[in-house]
Order: sequence, then C-alpha cells, then structure tokens
Amino acid sequence: MSPITNSAGWQNGYRRVLAWGMAKATEADEQTIKLHDCHDYTTMADLKRSLLGHLQGRVLEIGPGAGTNLTYFPPDIHWIGVEPNLFTHLYIRQEAERHGLKDIELHGQPAEQFPVEDGSLDAVVSTYVLCSVTDIDTTLKDIQRVLKPDGKFVFMEHVAATDGTCTRTVQDGITPVWKTVFDHCHPNRETWRNLEKAGFATVDYQTFRLSIPVVSPHIAGVATRASIDSKTELAHGQSKSRQPTLGDIHDI
Ligand SMILES: C[S@@+](CC[C@H](N)C(=O)[O-])C[C@H]1O[C@@H](n2cnc3c(N)ncnc32)[C@H](O)[C@@H]1O
Repeated sequence: MSPITNSAGWQNGYRRVLAWGMAKATEADEQTIKLHDCHDYTTMADLKRSLLGHLQGRVLEIGPGAGTNLTYFPPDIHWIGVEPNLFTHLYIRQEAERHGLKDIELHGQPAEQFPVEDGSLDAVVSTYVLCSVTDIDTTLKDIQRVLKPDGKFVFMEHVAATDGTCTRTVQDGITPVWKTVFDHCHPNRETWRNLEKAGFATVDYQTFRLSIPVVSPHIAGVATRASIDSKTELAHGQSKSRQPTLGDIHDI
C-alpha cells in the first residue's frame, strides 16, 4: 500500500471517529450543561433556544458537526449545512428527520469553498467552527457577502483567555499540538477581535464559561450585516455601528 493511500486511510479513520464523537455529544441533554458567569442564561439549551429558535427563511449552518443544533431551529426553515467531514452526514440527516426539518440541503465542502449567491441568506450560523477555519477574516467577509441586508450571523465560539492569565499561557503553549490533534482547532484565537473589525453593522454578544479546561472563555451572540441604508452611510463615513469589547455584556 502506498504512503498516500495509508495517509488517506488514517485520515478517514480519524474523521470517522470525530463524527462518532460528535454524534455521541449530540445525545447529551444541553439543558444540563450549566453556563458560568453568563448574564442572562443558565444552561446551554436556554442560550441556544434564544439564538436559534427565531431564525426564519434560508439559514446556512457552517460546520454543523453531527447536527447538534438542529433541535433548536424552527422546523419550517430552509436549512443548508456545509460540513466537510462526510462521516457526519448520516447523523445530520437522522437529526433533521428526528426534529422535523424537511427542507434541508447538505454539502461536503469546507465553508470557504461553498458557492453561495450574494445577499441570498437570512442567517448564517456557526457554533465552535471559527476556531478551525483556515482564514477567519476571509470567512467573516464571505459570511457578510452572502447575508441579505440586515441578515444575522449567529455565533458561539470558545476564545482566547485574557492575556497574561495562566489559562492563556497554557492555550498559547498547547495550540500547535492541539490543532494537530483536534482538526485544526485553535484554543487561543481572539475571535471577538476579528468579529469587531469585520465590518458588521452591529456585533452583540455575551461571555460565559463552561466546566471544561483549556477552551474557555466562550462568546455567543449575533452580528448583523449592514442594511442597504447603513451601507450608504458607511460609504459617507456616518456609521453608527457599536464596537463592543470582550467582557461587555450585551443583550442577544
Ligand atoms: C468543534 S466541531 C463543532 C460542531 C458543531 N457546530 C457543534 O457546535 O457541536 C467543528 C466542526 O466544524 C467543521 N469544520 C471545520 N473546518 C470547517 C470549514 N472550513 N468549513 C466548514 N466546516 C468546518 C468540522 O468538520 C466539525 O464538524
């Protein structure tokens, strides 16, 4: 067997295990996952219901894993999933069926390579994916491109701890190994900074912690694409956008 075949076989085995692990995690009752230091929500299920339960129309989810979020969406949306780990697709379809989502599309490219028409989506969702994408700034620009004016980008991500803390030192030290073992996941990304400078009209989020080490704290919230009017304002230097910093507590 050639080294290339060997490496492909190893990668497939690895992806299969990841998919199985994500499917197992999907079985967890998120009502029992407690959020610490969160302003408005006490459990993961409450927070996700608030973020995802009111979305309408055409919704693109990047990196849906084994479909852990499908239980929270209104079943009548048109859901488009872009998940490069093909071993998750069977689990996603099963979850969609279990939760009554009938109008779904599933694609196997990385988000960066998935063709979507400009201004064609009501919402884009990413939970724990921006830590892994190859180029976060390009991904955020692309998300804005495909959103309709006033469309929503809903995100939940683990992010870098504050500079100088023990957790941050561990995150910085462990990242080279971590990203190799965990499918390109970076524990030390300052994702809030990328969101703030990406050009959204508003970026609102809350911070919280979970009872797990290394990948903490977390941010969850909504960024809104500029409307046509505010895009014109932006062109004339009259933006009213608010630029929060990590640690600000905003209403979702
Ligand atoms: C940590 S898992 C999160 C899964 C799910 N969103 C959740 O909240 O449980 C990250 C997922 O993102 C996917 N992923 C990684 N890079 C991606 C990319 N460039 N485009 C789309 N999905 C990606 C992985 O295959 C994996 O399923």
